[in-house]
Amino acid sequence: MSQLFTRQSSILAAVSFLSLMVIAGSVNAQSLQVKQWAASCSACHGTDGYSEGGMASLAGQTKAELIQKMNEYKSGKRVASIMHQLSKGYTDEQIEQISAYFASLPVEKAAPKKTK
Ligand code: HEC
Repeated sequence: MSQLFTRQSSILAAVSFLSLMVIAGSVNAQSLQVKQWAASCSACHGTDGYSEGGMASLAGQTKAELIQKMNEYKSGKRVASIMHQLSKGYTDEQIEQISAYFASLPVEKAAPKKTK
């Protein structure tokens, strides 16, 4: 009886470990997807949303700010030359995830590591 119990719990442990790996895998795939969406903003707003000047940086703005601005572009409340069209290409969920991504980045770009 106790042997059976041990075997069952090791199977249970193996199954829970595997399901954890599956969950971890889907989280990674999801964040990769968000990074790809965010990368399309980089063309104008700078790599990772860090502008080199002349354009607003997205990195480090709060999630709420970014969502609000995107929604205002979408609705036409915020006047724009480009963003009113671009913002319409994203669902509310995509905008939320992209905004969370940029908000998770520090305001200042990390200083480049010195080589050598
Ligand atoms: C083709 C260039 C271009 C791309 C690509 C682009 N933007 Fe913009 N963005 C602009 C311009 C230009 C403005 C200024 C408003 C305008 O004239 O449209 C702006 C303004 C913004 C603002 C307001 C900035 C502020 O703080 O005042 C936000 C937020 C924003 N963009 C988010 C995004 C996001 C998120 C993406 C990617 C999904 C993106 N943009 C992709 C050109 C671009």
